[in-house]
Amino acid sequence: MWFLLHSKTYPFGLLLLVSYAHYTKSSHIDTNALQMGGLPSTELKETHWYPDQVWNATNDELSYGIIILNRPIEVHASVLTNLWRKAKIRCTVDQGTDRWLLFLNQHNLDPALYWPDLVTGDFDSVSSNSMGRFLALGSDIVPTPDQSYTDFQKAVMEITKREKIDYLISIVEFNGRLDHCMSNINTLYKSSLPIYLLSAKYMSWVLRANAGLHRIHLNPGFTSGKKTLGLIPVGSPVQQVYSTGLKWNLNNHTLAFGGMVSSSNTYENETTPEVSVKMSQGDLLWIMQLPSHPRTESVTSNPRTESVTSNPDETSNSSVTPHHHLIGRL
Ligand SMILES: *[C@@H]1O[C@H](CO)[C@@H](O)[C@H](O)[C@H]1NC(C)=O
Ligand SMILES: *[C@@H]1O[C@H](CO)[C@@H](O)[C@H](O)[C@H]1NC(C)=O
Ligand SMILES: *[C@@H]1O[C@H](CO)[C@@H](O)[C@H](O)[C@H]1NC(C)=O
Ligand SMILES: *[C@@H]1O[C@H](CO)[C@@H](O)[C@H](O)[C@H]1NC(C)=O
Repeated sequence: MWFLLHSKTYPFGLLLLVSYAHYTKSSHIDTNALQMGGLPSTELKETHWYPDQVWNATNDELSYGIIILNRPIEVHASVLTNLWRKAKIRCTVDQGTDRWLLFLNQHNLDPALYWPDLVTGDFDSVSSNSMGRFLALGSDIVPTPDQSYTDFQKAVMEITKREKIDYLISIVEFNGRLDHCMSNINTLYKSSLPIYLLSAKYMSWVLRANAGLHRIHLNPGFTSGKKTLGLIPVGSPVQQVYSTGLKWNLNNHTLAFGGMVSSSNTYENETTPEVSVKMSQGDLLWIMQLPSHPRTESVTSNPRTESVTSNPDETSNSSVTPHHHLIGRL
């Protein structure tokens, strides 16, 4: 059973089934009627994304791993400790290990509660002090010397060898390191597991043509305040891109370096509930700005116990607050 919508919301004639998947759901449709130029004509999948559930770690049905890469840690402490606490597996990569220890010290968090399950890297830059510290606390130290992969790629491989997870979150700031930025995007592009790049102000992940229609579910926290977003082609030109929910929607455009990329875009309005994107070929990096206000929840005290109690000494420390102001927009 199917029907067509010709509304403003779905100008490209999308079949809506009342189905909610966390990621991918196939919808069997009559595509002859839909003129979905270029998409396989038998079925159009829908892939649902819930960035708030990723950022806030509120979906208990999905499990994820967290990776601390070797960049300054500027994600707000309450956001990061919440993500860390609920992760199924936690990994620090090379000098990211030092950065993590520094972060814990800066926020008066006990390394005995926040040690990584896994420390990986070629260990050319990490200090023996932090490695020794985490080793003593129980971390698995896994040298990954193969120089044909980046430390990030090798961390992804180690993690997926050990745990079955639904996605990964990698913590990384790009200020100043365009090469890191590009290399990390390549890792996202190559990974079959969804990976979110999370920085203090932006979250990014890859939307793939073969995942069908992407539906990114939003809430006002993400859309208010004229937040910026981008749709950047990765790997190859992206053909026949359609979108809804944006101020500057795409309507059968090709996005490509050498042609057009969609940067400094924004939502249709400040309460747009959903953005949808599809393309016939190629993959897009979706880059969205995050809410500027930190989560109000406390930095909790013990990430490795079931019953989590919050420690008022930690939550009252105002030194946790100002990290947002340190970086500019991408
Ligand atoms: C994250 O969770 C908090 C509650 O802890 C909620 O108030 C907030 O709206 C959520 N943020 C987003 C962007 O969903
Ligand atoms: C807050 O944290 C800083 C370190 O970042 C520390 O010097 C200070 O004593 C802490 N304040 C409280 C009230 O715990
Ligand atoms: C905001 O945009 C959405 C679609 O993105 C639309 O459905 C809604 O009516 C708009 N709201 C206002 C107040 O214009
Ligand atoms: C979309 O653009 C392609 C060329 O890139 C064209 O062949 C096709 O007819 C267009 N589809 C629609 C519905 O305009």
